[in-house]
Amino acid sequence: MRRIDYDTEQYQDYARGRALSERQQQVWISAFGAVLPERRPLVGLDVGSGTGRFTPALARAFGPVTGVEPSVRMREIAQAQSPHPDVRYLAGSAEDMPVPSASADYALMFLSWHHVPDKPQAVRELARVLRPAGRLLLRANFSDHHPRPWWLEHFHRGFETDAALFQPLHEVIAMFTSDGWRVTGFGTVTEPSVGSRGDMLQRLRLRTLSFFAQLSPDELEAGFRRLEEAVAADPDAPAPVFSEPLLTLERS
Ligand SMILES: C[S@@+](CC[C@H](N)C(=O)[O-])C[C@H]1O[C@@H](n2cnc3c(N)ncnc32)[C@H](O)[C@@H]1O
Repeated sequence: MRRIDYDTEQYQDYARGRALSERQQQVWISAFGAVLPERRPLVGLDVGSGTGRFTPALARAFGPVTGVEPSVRMREIAQAQSPHPDVRYLAGSAEDMPVPSASADYALMFLSWHHVPDKPQAVRELARVLRPAGRLLLRANFSDHHPRPWWLEHFHRGFETDAALFQPLHEVIAMFTSDGWRVTGFGTVTEPSVGSRGDMLQRLRLRTLSFFAQLSPDELEAGFRRLEEAVAADPDAPAPVFSEPLLTLERS
């Protein structure tokens, strides 16, 4: 995978390209609530919090949250656009979090795991910051449980290229269980549609997905041309939904 430097790419358009409607956010928050303990407040970590897409919603639903994010630019946008009295955004990474040991009840990693260069260190660091029986909510893709978004087929080898960004599920599970964690849940969440296929095309043009950074300029041009032709046939049709994996792990 070509690594994305969020301080030089994507940060200007990320919030727009990946915006969630209130309904979409609610679907995720209720999926997270279903795998978390019922007591409130829960102390949370949003690891790889980006522009703070989820951080204030986590605080409203569960209790105070620390967003940990390595990119200065992404953090600046989160601070400006996603503030909340129970949220703070700190510089850090999954491998090195500026929070005390055993201080959080849960950590969310929403599409940030595949960006982590030193995954064994992240497994240890997540175990350090969570309390015993603390939960990690890993919204990740897996090469063998890949969600197959409808638009990907228009890019040459799109599915293979995108799936290759991610580890297979058993490999991720083994990294955690060999360090004493246990799996408490694996399922999928279906986000409500973003709107029409035309709306989705507008967002995709912003290229705020790591997939696009893996393609050559010719592959990008040809893929967008095919996608535009397909969407032009029925731009107002609802963008098809797909199922997104959520793996929950418990620290021993
Ligand atoms: C696809 S974005 C997801 C952001 C946010 N979780 C969301 O869903 O909008 C991936 C984020 O992971 C961050 N990231 C990169 N390396 C990381 C690391 N080692 N630990 C934690 N986050 C990292 C990036 O800076 C980026 O903000």
